[in-house]
Amino acid sequence: MAPSNGMASHDEDSILEILYANFGCFALLTAHKLQLFRVFEAGALTVSEAAKRLNIAERPAELLLTTLTAQRLITKMGDRYALASLAQQYCLESSPTYLGGMLDFAVATHAMCTVENLETCARTDRSLAYGSGDAFREHAEDIARARVFTHAMHCQSIAPAMMWPKRLDLSNHKMMLDIAGGSGAHAIGALQQWPEMRASVFEMAPVNGFVREYADKYSLSGRLTAVLGDMWKDPYTPADLHFYSQVYHDWTEEKCRFLTEKSFASLPSRGRIVIHELLLDSDKSGPRLPTLMGMVMLLWTEGRQYSGLELSELLESVGFVGVHTERTLGSWGIVTGVKP
Ligand SMILES: C[S@@+](CC[C@H](N)C(=O)[O-])C[C@H]1O[C@@H](n2cnc3c(N)ncnc32)[C@H](O)[C@@H]1O
Repeated sequence: MAPSNGMASHDEDSILEILYANFGCFALLTAHKLQLFRVFEAGALTVSEAAKRLNIAERPAELLLTTLTAQRLITKMGDRYALASLAQQYCLESSPTYLGGMLDFAVATHAMCTVENLETCARTDRSLAYGSGDAFREHAEDIARARVFTHAMHCQSIAPAMMWPKRLDLSNHKMMLDIAGGSGAHAIGALQQWPEMRASVFEMAPVNGFVREYADKYSLSGRLTAVLGDMWKDPYTPADLHFYSQVYHDWTEEKCRFLTEKSFASLPSRGRIVIHELLLDSDKSGPRLPTLMGMVMLLWTEGRQYSGLELSELLESVGFVGVHTERTLGSWGIVTGVKP
């Protein structure tokens, strides 16, 4: 029955779901910490069996399993719970798209994600990063932290990195420069799809030094290298494909324009630029995931999420032609153009 005060009954759930949404995130992270997904890898379990294997009481086991079921990470048949395909894809170490490094990073940094910190960022229009200034520069002084961040990014990037290279014809491109490419996840995706191409990751120290490990892991050491460089100061090494993933969202519009102009100047004629991001819709009313990533940017960086329209206009204004935007996996998408 409709409530008599004229409010739609679903409004009540909507507002409370928003209020309690962080517990949905914590359910996933707690399950990850308890190694719940690994416990279910061998097959379906009842609450009581799962509790025994997790070495926790039945009450928390049931609470977690119920929440994960509502989140579609777990399925329920009768009184038995099993891994849903979402958890098989992203929560099992054996999966090529395992998100574990990013889940670990979320656990390690969640103490920074407070309302007080976000309120300060909103009031001052400055990020907290790890405490001050540019988080990436601080990585130069803390190799362990840089390694953890790079691995977290790798885990999040590897699934979309397998998709966008299938959507573009890169057969005429010989050398990809994965600028601020972290582990080189996207270069790895591109090289797997385009066997004639080579790639180089343009990165700061110490991240440039990690690329070799990832190249070895994916058996690409002959085709994937790293170049040490600061994208604000150092010239780009020769390449006919410039790629930026989750780079523009770290920086202001002025700095994004600088990078776009720098790529335009450095690419040869027919060279291509690809910008890969969680793209906002043109009217910036969603999708939800890029808007949430925007809140992450408020906390950690000076940037924001951009819409495909904003990035296309930027590319066209700098001189790129044939500019187009395409969603490639969920809200991930590319904006690409060619130098005439
Ligand atoms: C959000 S991560 C994106 C990594 C990768 N492109 C991906 O999508 O997985 C941003 C990267 O920018 C790199 N970076 C930041 N400032 C840089 C600079 N001035 N020159 C080169 N790389 C930089 C960082 O080291 C970090 O790996």
